[in-house]
Amino acid sequence: MLTKANIAVLVSGGGTNLQALIDAQSNGVLKSGEIKAVISNRAGAYALTRAEKNGIPAFTVTKKECGSQQAFEERLTEIMKENKIDFIVLAGFMSILSENFTAQFPSRIINVHPSLIPSFCGKGFYGLHVHEAALSYGVKVTGATVHFVNEVCDGGKIIMQKAVEVEDGDTPEILQKRVMEQAEWIILPQAAEKVSEKICRQKGFIS
Ligand code: GAR
Repeated sequence: MLTKANIAVLVSGGGTNLQALIDAQSNGVLKSGEIKAVISNRAGAYALTRAEKNGIPAFTVTKKECGSQQAFEERLTEIMKENKIDFIVLAGFMSILSENFTAQFPSRIINVHPSLIPSFCGKGFYGLHVHEAALSYGVKVTGATVHFVNEVCDGGKIIMQKAVEVEDGDTPEILQKRVMEQAEWIILPQAAEKVSEKICRQKGFIS
């Protein structure tokens, strides 16, 4: 019997990247991993509804309810253990994880960032702010990056990148949508498959 890597997806908002991963599971792009849990740090995030619609266990864990970063991360770790998670995908997760957490999963956490790292990344660069910064700098090409997550914000090893053209008259919203459509929704599932396949090999599920 073929066994897959168990994936948890961490989200905060609309969850279009989560949707791309769910679709990739259906169309076979993501075949070595299976999404076993979706965790949001924001109550009511639409990403949770997407998980429920697809029969994926959905959890809300907020820092406020937990009381501290440490308690927040301990709860996340508990959910990972309970669901036998091998691999964590940050898909629009707007909270920075500390080394206490990331060190537990070396080369087992990936993130999608909406720029070509090392441009427009690090603390304060998230969501629409990234595209505002790209437009105000005046770059003509931007894109998305999928990278491993370590203790340095947006500083882990790059797995995949895809460039996207900036067009005259772009607003941050228009650019965000183009970067998602032309880069994020393509490279995130591909990178998730790449890491899942590696995990399956390491576990001896495939040779
Ligand atoms: C995406 O553009 C993602 O790259 C970005 O937030 C958006 C979430 O959209 N993430 C970051 O900025 C992380 N630094 P989604 O909820 O529709 O996937």
